[in-house]
Amino acid sequence: MTDDRLLEVRDLEVEFTTRDGVVRALNGVSYGVDAGETLAVLGESGSGKSVTAQAIMGILDMPPGRITGGEIIFQGRDLLRLSGEERRRIRGPKMAMIFQDALSSLNPVLSVGYQLGEMFRVHRGASRKEATARAVELMERVRIPAAKDRVNDYPHEFSGGMRQRIMIAMALALEPDLIIADEPTTALDVTVQAQVMDLLADLQREYRMGLILITHDLGVVADTADRIAVMYAGRIVENAPVKELYAAPAHPYTKGLLDSIPRLDQKGGQLYAIRGLPPNLLHVPGGCPFHPRCPRVRDRCRTDLPPLYAVSEQAADGAADATGERAEAVSADPAQDEIARVPELGARSSACHYWKETVDDARRT
Ligand SMILES: Nc1ncnc2c1ncn2[C@@H]1O[C@H](COP(=O)(O)OP(=O)(O)OP(=O)(O)O)[C@@H](O)[C@H]1O
Ligand code: SF4
Ligand SMILES: [Mg+2]
Repeated sequence: MTDDRLLEVRDLEVEFTTRDGVVRALNGVSYGVDAGETLAVLGESGSGKSVTAQAIMGILDMPPGRITGGEIIFQGRDLLRLSGEERRRIRGPKMAMIFQDALSSLNPVLSVGYQLGEMFRVHRGASRKEATARAVELMERVRIPAAKDRVNDYPHEFSGGMRQRIMIAMALALEPDLIIADEPTTALDVTVQAQVMDLLADLQREYRMGLILITHDLGVVADTADRIAVMYAGRIVENAPVKELYAAPAHPYTKGLLDSIPRLDQKGGQLYAIRGLPPNLLHVPGGCPFHPRCPRVRDRCRTDLPPLYAVSEQAADGAADATGERAEAVSADPAQDEIARVPELGARSSACHYWKETVDDARRT
């Protein structure tokens, strides 16, 4: 754990009891975020991105949800051991969340100035007048034009993009150390998406907050994120610095995601799509959960669940040949792979038995 480590999620398990049976939504999620860092969380619909975020924020639907294992260490304390009251005191001043849909998150019958000001009245004991002044300041901060004139307007009087800025302002109000943005721009059109993302990235740098950015869109995160965690069927399957992941993904699922982004330099070509569908979480496939869809699948994948392996640069590119380290790291003996099991949450890692081949192939093409 580094000194800067703000949040560590370790082996988090969540299930939901439904009419059809028990949905195993999270099956051992581990990731970390440092102060001032942006972690993008990617993965198809249903992979567990939002459930992880809700568990961190303490807003998971319980029941039907149940946390059955793991830890969420935030600023050195396991949030899962705190009382409801202690967690409420953390939400707002220490961590805040931005949701996709501002219209349903804001109260339609209260002015935005009132709602923004409420943060200061409730948490900082500000007077009505002070609170309104702070609300205007915040609206200016998130670049809402004519903030002074608009502070008494209601949510529906703003455009989608402006409402999303107001959500960002609400999250920033008490200058939290961690912000979780769950698909903050999905409901907006493309140009507005880019503006809102730029704003969020600027504010994140300015306030030096940790940011967890949940998105479907690999294109959006390229300029924004420091690291990426890729989720599949309630697990992290790859965790890597953005540049390394883009240069050479270490998991076939990540490669599939990268290959399915539309690129400006590839006009007209067929877009790759990962074959098959995400698994049904009532019956997650045995072995590697990705095996029914994986172009690299081998016998072992059908029976052995891959742990998160440490992905070492040297092992992958052969740079350590002279030291002899490579021989061990690329041993054909699968048991050797266990040696590489990753203990550190910040390290580059992949939950694929054949990550080395995946990286090497990506480098060659
Ligand atoms: N309240 C709930 N009751 C039952 N199942 C739930 C509940 N909330 C989430 N789930 C299940 O947990 C799994 C993970 O859901 P989650 O919302 O985290 O996916 P996601 O990765 O955020 O997907 P999306 O990209 O569509 O937002 C899904 O299978 C979902 O059906
Ligand atoms: S472990 Fe096997 S099935 Fe899973 S991603 Fe790797 S190669 Fe594919
Ligand atoms: Mg979601």
